[in-house]
Amino acid sequence: MGLEGQKGRPPSEASRSTSGERARCWLCELREKPQRRAVGLMSGTSADGIDVAVVDLMSPEESPPFRLIAFRTWPYDQETRRAVLEMAHAGRSSLQRLARLNVRLGELFAEAVLHTLRDAGLPREEIDFIGSHGQTVGHFPKLRRCLGRLVRATLQIGEPDVIAKRTGILTVGDFRVGDVALGGSGAPLVPLVDWLFFRSPDRCVATLNIGGIANVTIIPKNAGLEDVLGFDTGPGNALLNSLAELYWEEPADWDGRHAAAGRVDEEWLSHLLRHPYFRKLPPKSTGREVFGMAMAKRLAEEGDKRGLSPEDVLATATLFVARSIARSLETLLPHADRPELLICSGGGVHNPTLMAQLRRELAGMEIHTSQEVGVDPDAKEAIAFAVLADRTLRGEAGNCPGATGAGRSGILGKICLP
Ligand SMILES: Nc1ncnc2c1ncn2[C@@H]1O[C@H](COP(=O)(O)OP(=O)(O)O)[C@@H](O)[C@H]1O
Ligand SMILES: [Mg+2]
Repeated sequence: MGLEGQKGRPPSEASRSTSGERARCWLCELREKPQRRAVGLMSGTSADGIDVAVVDLMSPEESPPFRLIAFRTWPYDQETRRAVLEMAHAGRSSLQRLARLNVRLGELFAEAVLHTLRDAGLPREEIDFIGSHGQTVGHFPKLRRCLGRLVRATLQIGEPDVIAKRTGILTVGDFRVGDVALGGSGAPLVPLVDWLFFRSPDRCVATLNIGGIANVTIIPKNAGLEDVLGFDTGPGNALLNSLAELYWEEPADWDGRHAAAGRVDEEWLSHLLRHPYFRKLPPKSTGREVFGMAMAKRLAEEGDKRGLSPEDVLATATLFVARSIARSLETLLPHADRPELLICSGGGVHNPTLMAQLRRELAGMEIHTSQEVGVDPDAKEAIAFAVLADRTLRGEAGNCPGATGAGRSGILGKICLP
């Protein structure tokens, strides 16, 4: 793809007018449709690539309420990945670069959709809509003064209007700012979908997504949406990837091999776990500004001073990820909300060193990957944004105040017509 050098072509005049007509009646037709075919688009803080999930969405009473038709991850090429990561570094970005990257990523998202549909032999006309998370380039959940008022902010790029125009498919995007407008931090948004998919009448279930940043959703026994809690636990793959990049110029510590070859410095680890983020009570969210390259550089320097090998630093950082997740589940929650079952997803489930550490830290808790309960762990977040777009188009709330801290729930996202 543009990721690999190919160019997306706008739809022809004829197909544009057909999709335009479809868009006009869409909102009314949607309510009548028992089943919608949608595309969910996700690119997380790891900036590893674009996840494209094609799903059929059924009524929430059906179990499971969706069927995965096709899934692909289109890796960013190195130049794109670097551009995205640099954009997240204050000082290195310019407004013009940001504006252009917003459009260019929109094009890449559109190409990723069109190529996924082509490869799966799925006609574009059968897709009812796209739900796109976008690429986060800044997340500032703390209240800070701006023009005399305290505000939070979050910024996702990969323009949904470009996606809609290039694919000829109605696109819902930019979900997070709606929650910010309601007083929330805009993250995490997946808890609502976790509640739809995984709630249980007889036990407390938690879901864990180990993406660039790790986050959990806590769904108490027999929970209503208002009982659901969700928060970022802290470091995830972004920290481990940054260390792999610094030491070996690799995008990740593949299969946790470097970490497995090192020794953990427990004394240093307990110092790292004194980071103020871990004392904050949920709901809370963080980003790669806190647990990304800047922290990796500090860890590499400190590791040097302690006479540790790069592998030792990776081993310590990997356990830092696992233990911060485990501690969050054990210490930040009221006793009644201690989960009995943990369902894991995100790229981190493919890191056996991390998963083994997590199982050791949470001995006694039943731990599964989401695959084992019927949801592809790599596709889960992309599927979630198809579900959230569906809710937007049906006029249903997309946020979960217990996860974002918003004053109330509300309809999220912007609807872009083709
Ligand atoms: N085989 C693997 N070994 C170690 N880490 C892996 C492996 N596969 C994926 N990952 C990690 O998962 C990350 C991608 O996870 P993902 O869930 O897509 O995160 P995000 O949502 O932030 O994009 C990669 O950058 C890498 O750190
Ligand atoms: Mg990813």
